[in-house]
Amino acid sequence: MCGIIGYVGQEQASSILVDGLKRLEYRGYDSSGIAVLQRGHVEVRRSVGKLANLEQTLSGGDLQGTMGIGHTRWATHGKPSEQNAHPHRSGNIVIVHNGIIENYLSLKVHLQQEGFQFESETDTEVVSHLLASYMKQSQSLSEAFRSVVRELQGSYALAGICEDEPHAIVTVRSGCPLVVGQGEKASYLASDVTPLLTHTRDMIFLEDGDIAVLTPGDITVMAVDGHRVKRKPTTVDWSADAAEKGGFPNFMLKEIHEQPQVILDTLRGRYSYDSGEADLPDLSITSEELSNTKRIWIVACGTSWHSGLVGKYLIEEMLRTPVQVDIGSEFRYREPMIQPDDLFIAISQSGETADTLAAAHEAKRLGARVLSIVNVVGSSLARDSDGVIYTRCGPEVSVASTKAFTGQVVALYLLALHIGRIRQQLMADDGRWWLDQFRALPGQVEHILRQEAEIISMAKRFYTKSNFLYLGRGINYPIALEGALKLKEISYIHAEGYAAGEMKHGPIALVDEEMPVVVLAPRHRLYEKTVSNLMEVKARNAPVIAFVSEGERELGGIADFVFSIPHSHPLMSPILFTVALQLLAYHIATLREVDVDRPRNLAKSVTVE
Ligand code: F6R
Repeated sequence: MCGIIGYVGQEQASSILVDGLKRLEYRGYDSSGIAVLQRGHVEVRRSVGKLANLEQTLSGGDLQGTMGIGHTRWATHGKPSEQNAHPHRSGNIVIVHNGIIENYLSLKVHLQQEGFQFESETDTEVVSHLLASYMKQSQSLSEAFRSVVRELQGSYALAGICEDEPHAIVTVRSGCPLVVGQGEKASYLASDVTPLLTHTRDMIFLEDGDIAVLTPGDITVMAVDGHRVKRKPTTVDWSADAAEKGGFPNFMLKEIHEQPQVILDTLRGRYSYDSGEADLPDLSITSEELSNTKRIWIVACGTSWHSGLVGKYLIEEMLRTPVQVDIGSEFRYREPMIQPDDLFIAISQSGETADTLAAAHEAKRLGARVLSIVNVVGSSLARDSDGVIYTRCGPEVSVASTKAFTGQVVALYLLALHIGRIRQQLMADDGRWWLDQFRALPGQVEHILRQEAEIISMAKRFYTKSNFLYLGRGINYPIALEGALKLKEISYIHAEGYAAGEMKHGPIALVDEEMPVVVLAPRHRLYEKTVSNLMEVKARNAPVIAFVSEGERELGGIADFVFSIPHSHPLMSPILFTVALQLLAYHIATLREVDVDRPRNLAKSVTVE
């Protein structure tokens, strides 16, 4: 939550900062602000609401200067207001902050005793005052930062400028993402790579404890004791266009339509068809370790947790290895009984989700090998894991996760194939057969995307309803959860996902003619049982939307809408149903005129617990 940005160079900073904040707005958008050093004085402009309001404030073009920092906020401490918006000032120092300072109350008491006046309700303001306090006995802003970080508890990425140092931005990282980039006579910092892509490809992903000083021609990284540290730049090959909407009305629809490409990219170069094997070079977990794995744990949050649940059904059926799936915030506090030869898999689009990261650290502490399935290269989770499978989805900008889910499930397919071949549970022929199923997926997803008009008709019929029920069984039970999550988060309609067989144990009491029921009924050994559940809701007059396998005709006269997904092996069906349910949620939300990319109260990357 919250996005920070910084620029020091030769050009006007304010337009670079605002442009960068636009790309970070998905991280929080209840207020925003920038600070620019103008003729020796730092000028701050802040606005409540979306970035367009800040642009309005800046439209006079009076903010001139070639160094500045900016922020887009997702409120944690204090309501969205101009006073609580960043940047925050203390004397001649101005800072922006992403994260939470957990000990801010005790720091605040000391600072008040020193005479500092607080103007906001934020935790951040203690940092600006602490810096001002330490600055009195420091030679430079970076030295003051080094003293301040010793006092801070919590998670943060901070950037600050000082009127006495007109060509330097200081930035520090502890537990929140931060990337710096060197351009032509200019240096940049941001919470992720997207604002930097139009300026530079060579980036350094700072590590916890790093303090960087950015000047127009140089970036110096040091540790808290002042020693220089060497950090290797990474060349990021995402195109700047990938971070733009590419002709779609919003990022969410664009990202839904990118899924055939995501599948291709996530598979590309990661298998040998001849040997029927998956090739995962960054796994860093030996064949022997994988062979000896007795139990697998999967931990994630939200949509990524749903892909983890799909992984459970998949791995247990393909490999006959027990899989325990947990939500990050539960796992980290429940004293999990991990054994040293267990394999722990953390799944995360951002690689920065606080609960997933903490769960991975806990698993490591208990001796498990930690593998992560992550989208963001160089993210904290990727760096803290023994091995990683990157999902290669490109930047996911829309707050609701879509293509990341698909990339995660494809990564799980590859992993299951890899382990199955190592253990010889799958022979080369089996491997090739599975690879054929994987490789068919992009075309099958395209087929679904071409039927968007049918989904729009469903959306038009039901978008005014207040409650939805989603039912699925087996590997599509998590997809019922995901379909309901997508609908509730972007349309604000109450939706429940349920295991179809569990419906009679409670939720059926809610069913009436006002509650549309979405039923996932692929041709599968549980098909008849799912149809029985469908009949039960139909008998209570609920409108029914049935998602079935191609060629299935018998529900035609029973369900109000029948949508067919291409024929596939049942273990492949989750991706196909999910894409259809993403479109359903998307079109219902747009009919209700919700800003789908930035639904209320949500943030893209949940970097606090
Ligand atoms: C839902 C959604 C969230 C995320 C969750 C985990 O559409 O986006 O539920 O899936 O916050 O985020 P990552 O995958 O970044 O760990």
